[in-house]
Amino acid sequence: MEEIADEQPPPPPLNTPLLKNTELSDTLDFSKIFFKFEGNGPTGTQKDRISYAHVMNARDLGFSKIAVATCGNYGASLSYYANKARLSTYVLIPKDYSNSRSREIESYGSNVLLMPGKYEDSVEFLHRNAKSLGWYDASPGSEYSSLDLRAYSNIAKEIVEQLGHAPAYVAVPVGNGTTFAGIYLGFKKMQLNGDIDILPRMIASSTSSGNPIISSFSAGLRDLIELPPEAIIESYVNEPLVSYRSYDGQLALNGLYDTNGIAVPVSDHNMIRYAQIIRERIGINVLPASASALAAVSMGLSRMDKEEECVVVLTGRDNNGNSHSTF
Ligand SMILES: Cc1ncc(COP(=O)(O)O)c(C=O)c1O
Repeated sequence: MEEIADEQPPPPPLNTPLLKNTELSDTLDFSKIFFKFEGNGPTGTQKDRISYAHVMNARDLGFSKIAVATCGNYGASLSYYANKARLSTYVLIPKDYSNSRSREIESYGSNVLLMPGKYEDSVEFLHRNAKSLGWYDASPGSEYSSLDLRAYSNIAKEIVEQLGHAPAYVAVPVGNGTTFAGIYLGFKKMQLNGDIDILPRMIASSTSSGNPIISSFSAGLRDLIELPPEAIIESYVNEPLVSYRSYDGQLALNGLYDTNGIAVPVSDHNMIRYAQIIRERIGINVLPASASALAAVSMGLSRMDKEEECVVVLTGRDNNGNSHSTF
């Protein structure tokens, strides 16, 4: 049944929990790990932060229709907030994607449009056509995308408030690189303002099946190079991260260089394995894509100082997991 809509969408989940881990030291040999858990918002991923910002902006600009291209998580989140604000919503999902949350998206009253081609083809379709259709385009790379960076920069602010200072390392999964870039820019701004003493070294995790941020950084390139579309291989596990274009990839790449960062490709197998470790040892269900950040820390350990603090951003909960989050 369709939800009864409010006029005013609820605010996004701010101050998501920062959990100190004490259970992984034998597995990881890293004593000061913290988890920033983004999964406790209404739709369970960091996308709740940007969905709220876009829905409010669309309303302020007088739009009655909003659209997004998505692998599923952003579509569910935008639909939730747009429904509360009584906006008509169009969610474009590549028809071959498997992890699309389509039913949930439709339960918020959104129109799901299954699109030919890859994720980037759906994004480009909206970039070209949203204006003539009278739709607000909430996709990455749209004219409104600076809102994303501002919303995600709050994650950096919260980490500093919750910890009392900046950690030495922050690990974030990258798809388009928007979340990573927003967090990096949040820290950068605090450093420039003199609010923190150190700029954390940023660790980017992504799929080993294709992401230009990881491949460009690994090749030592300063300018992001797109991958050939046919080179990327989508799977149920890697869909949030696999990409041949990465709309905020250049910003993320700049952040990696500026912070002397580390970029780590992670296999589906390892994402699932680390999600399982987090479920069994920490007691929270996370999406394998978000567990890639912990896998990256584990795989990057030889390049890190194990005595320092590391914050791992867990971008989303997994509602299909076997046990339930305690948060
Ligand atoms: C759960 C989850 N983690 C990470 C990402 C990657 O975020 P970004 O595209 O901002 O790099 C996504 C994107 O869809 C996601 O859904």
